[in-house]
Amino acid sequence: MKFFADTADVSELRELKDLGLLDGVTTNPSLIAKSGRKFTEVIAEICSFVEGPVSAEVAALDFDGMMKEANVLRKIAKNVTVKVPLTLEGLKACRVLSGEGTMVNVTLCFSPNQALLAAKAGATFISPFVGRLDDIHQDGMELIAEIRQIYDNYDYDTNILVASVRTANHIKEAALIGADYATAPAAVLKSLVKHPLTDKGIEQFLADWKKTGQTIA
Ligand code: E4P
Repeated sequence: MKFFADTADVSELRELKDLGLLDGVTTNPSLIAKSGRKFTEVIAEICSFVEGPVSAEVAALDFDGMMKEANVLRKIAKNVTVKVPLTLEGLKACRVLSGEGTMVNVTLCFSPNQALLAAKAGATFISPFVGRLDDIHQDGMELIAEIRQIYDNYDYDTNILVASVRTANHIKEAALIGADYATAPAAVLKSLVKHPLTDKGIEQFLADWKKTGQTIA
């Protein structure tokens, strides 16, 4: 399973890269607003040190507007992945951009049928938002399992990029289902390493090591 970081914070991304936890990046207009930086500049800076796909989302809602913005975004770097919303206009843009060899991430997916349409439009990634479904008391992981089955039934190449990830458990469940990617905030990715028995074991070993009076040199 590959991990994308769901952030436009460059210092968080550099830390994740050094930890070996960064296969790519997703951003959205809310994350760009949170960064307080100019959209194209922050995407260019991210692409200067991240080799994997970097999703940059269009703001236009019509096909022509999306294509115009996509042309600006995909010129920034070859790993820019154009993110389009799951609408008829977004799917039309997805089909054209994918046909031209540009990676496309179709975002705001909340149903298996939406995911089916994105695959038919040639999307590189489909982003089902599990956390936002859980928020309205629907089962986000059930959606991931259903998309996995549909894509496997028809051998679609579109990658399932589990999004709106809020917990380490979301990542475990997505991995068990066989999702290709997950995108999550830096804190969630780093939390995967945590287990109380690991911390307790380290504490016990260090206490016993001190008793030996030895050093490793
Ligand atoms: C994915 O591409 C989105 O940026 C993101 O996962 C949305 O997450 P949220 O529901 O926590 O805002």
